[in-house]
Amino acid sequence: MTIYPPSHWVTSAVLMLGLINISIVECRRHVFDASDVTYPAINCRKHTAFLTDFGGKGDGITSNTEVFRAAVKNLSQFENDGGSQLIVPPGKWLTGSFNLTSHFTLFIQSDAVVLASQDEGDYPLVEPLPSYGTGRDGPGGRFSSFIGGSNLTDVVITGDNGTIDGQGSIWWDKFHKKKLKNTRPYLIELMYSKQIQISNLTLIDSPSWFVHPVYSSDIIAQDLTIHAPVDSPNTDGINPDSCKNVKIQDVFVVSGDDCVAVKSGWDEYGIKFGMPTEQMIIRRLTCISPDSAVIALGSEMSGGIKNIRAEDITAINSESAVRIKTGPGRGGYVTDIFVDKMNLHTMKYVFWTTGAYGQHPDPGYDPKALPIVDRINYRNVVAEDVKMAGNMGGIDGDPFTGFCLSNVTIGLSAKPKTLQWNCTDVSGISSDVTPKPCDALVDKGSIECDYPSDPVPIDTVQLETCSFSTQKQIL
Ligand SMILES: *[C@@H]1O[C@H](CO)[C@@H](O)[C@H](O)[C@H]1NC(C)=O
Ligand SMILES: *[C@@H]1O[C@H](CO)[C@@H](O)[C@H](O)[C@H]1NC(C)=O
Ligand SMILES: *[C@@H]1O[C@H](CO)[C@@H](O)[C@H](O)[C@H]1NC(C)=O
Ligand SMILES: *[C@@H]1O[C@H](CO)[C@@H](O)[C@H](O)[C@H]1NC(C)=O
Ligand SMILES: *[C@@H]1O[C@H](CO)[C@@H](O)[C@H](O)[C@H]1NC(C)=O
Ligand SMILES: *[C@@H]1O[C@H](CO)[C@@H](O)[C@H](O)[C@H]1NC(C)=O
Ligand SMILES: *[C@@H]1O[C@H](CO)[C@@H](O)[C@H](O)[C@H]1NC(C)=O
Repeated sequence: MTIYPPSHWVTSAVLMLGLINISIVECRRHVFDASDVTYPAINCRKHTAFLTDFGGKGDGITSNTEVFRAAVKNLSQFENDGGSQLIVPPGKWLTGSFNLTSHFTLFIQSDAVVLASQDEGDYPLVEPLPSYGTGRDGPGGRFSSFIGGSNLTDVVITGDNGTIDGQGSIWWDKFHKKKLKNTRPYLIELMYSKQIQISNLTLIDSPSWFVHPVYSSDIIAQDLTIHAPVDSPNTDGINPDSCKNVKIQDVFVVSGDDCVAVKSGWDEYGIKFGMPTEQMIIRRLTCISPDSAVIALGSEMSGGIKNIRAEDITAINSESAVRIKTGPGRGGYVTDIFVDKMNLHTMKYVFWTTGAYGQHPDPGYDPKALPIVDRINYRNVVAEDVKMAGNMGGIDGDPFTGFCLSNVTIGLSAKPKTLQWNCTDVSGISSDVTPKPCDALVDKGSIECDYPSDPVPIDTVQLETCSFSTQKQIL
C-alpha cells in the first residue's frame, strides 16, 4: 500500500509552483480537479490511506472484513505519528465488525456504503457491559458492535454524507422469534474513549441501537441522518451511556425506539459502577418515533443523569417528548434537566414520566433502591394534535419533585383523552400552561423556568478544516 503525504503539503507546494510558473496551471488543474475533499474535524491527520490500498472490493458481495481489520491495524502504527485517515471510496463495502484505533479518522465518501454483514460469525462475542451485568436482549454475552473501539483517544467517523447500513432486518427477525441468546450488535459503539466525533453520515437499519458511546467523554454527534423502520425493535438513535461532555446537534432520526436515550447502567450493576451521564447538550434534533420518546432519560439510569440540556427540538408523530423512565430498583438520579423550545406535531403525550418502569437485569436487584428525580425544567413548548397533555407519574413514597413548566401551549387532537393531566406522586410549578395543568404543578403566575446561560464545554471546541485528495499521483 501507499501512504500519501499530508495533502496540505501538496496544496502549498502546488500553490508555490503556481506563483513561480504560470505554465503549470494546466497541470495543477489536471491533478487536483474537483477531487480535493475538505471536511471539519476535531483533528486532521498526517497520513492518508484508501481502503482499496488494502485490497478492498466494493461490489457489495465480497467480504471486506479482513480488509478493514488489516487497514486499521496497519494505520494504528501512526497513532503517535500524526494520526491517519482511512478513506472509504464510492462503492458498496460489505464487512463484518471491526474496531477503530486512536488518532484516526474513518471517512466515508458520499457514494460509499459500508454494508454490515448479516453473518453472526462476523460479530465475535464480547463480555456484557459491566454497568449492565448481563446482555440487554438476553442473559448471554453480546455480539461485537459493527464498528467498535475501546480505550481510544481522538476518533472521527465522518464523511460527505456517506452511508453505514446495518442491514438489521435479519436481526430484528431473530429478536421477534426469540432466537437470540446474545445481545444484538450496535451499529457504532465506542467504550472507555475520549474525543469522539461522529458526523455527516447517513446511518440506516441498525440491528439494535445506532450510536452508543459508553464510559466515554468529549463527544460530538452532528449532522447525522439516522433511519430505521418505525416498527423495528430497539433501534434507538443515539444513546450516550455513562458519558460526560456530549453534544448532539443537527440530527434527524426516524426510529422504532427512542430517537435519543440518555442512560447510565442498569439496577445493581449500574449503581455499583456509578458512572453518570452528565454535561450534555442536544440541539436541533428532529424525531419521528410513533411508539417512543424523542428524548428518553432512562430507563437505565442507575449511575445517574444530570445537567442535560435540550433545545430546539422538533417532533413529528412521536409518542412523547422528553420522557423520564425509571422505577424501584434503579437507584441513581435524574436531576437538573433543562428543555427549551420544543415544536411538537401529533403526539400521544407532551409530558410523560414513569416511576413504574419494569425490566430488570436479574432478580438480584434491590427494590428499595429508589431513584431521585428533581429539578426538571421545560419552557417554550408548542404542540398540536395531542391526545393527552401530561401523564406524570412518580413513585409512591418517592415523589418526583421540582418540575417547572412555563410557556406551554398544547393543541389537542380531534379525539383527545377526557383526562388531560394525570399527576401522581409528582410536584412542581407551572406558568402559562394550556390546557390548565393539574394542581400538583402549582400555578406561579408569570415566571420563566430555568435554562443555563453558560456554554457546555464541548460547545467551545473548534473544528479544524481537514482534507485529502482522491487523486493518487502527485504532480
Ligand atoms: C503497512 O504499512 C507499511 C508502511 O508503513 C507497509 O510497509 C506495509 O506493507 C503495510 N502492511 C500491509 C499489510 O499493507
Ligand atoms: C474489538 O475490541 C473489543 C474490545 O477491546 C474486543 O473484545 C474485540 O475482540 C475486538 N474485535 C476485533 C474484531 O478485533
Ligand atoms: C480500558 O479502560 C478500562 C477503564 O479504564 C480498563 O478497565 C480496561 O482494562 C481497559 N482495557 C484495555 C484493553 O486496556
Ligand atoms: C444525506 O443523505 C440522506 C439519505 O440519502 C438524505 O436524506 C439527507 O438529506 C442527506 N443530507 C445532506 C446534508 O445532504
Ligand atoms: C457536515 O457537512 C457540511 C457540508 O459540507 C458542513 O457544512 C458541516 O460543517 C459538516 N459538519 C461536520 C460536523 O462535519
Ligand atoms: C413562548 O414560546 C413560544 C414558542 O417557543 C415563543 O415563540 C414565545 O416567544 C414564548 N413566549 C415567551 C413570553 O417567552
Ligand atoms: C394515573 O396515573 C397513575 C400512576 O401513573 C395510574 O395508576 C392511574 O391509573 C392513572 N389514572 C388514569 C385515570 O389514567
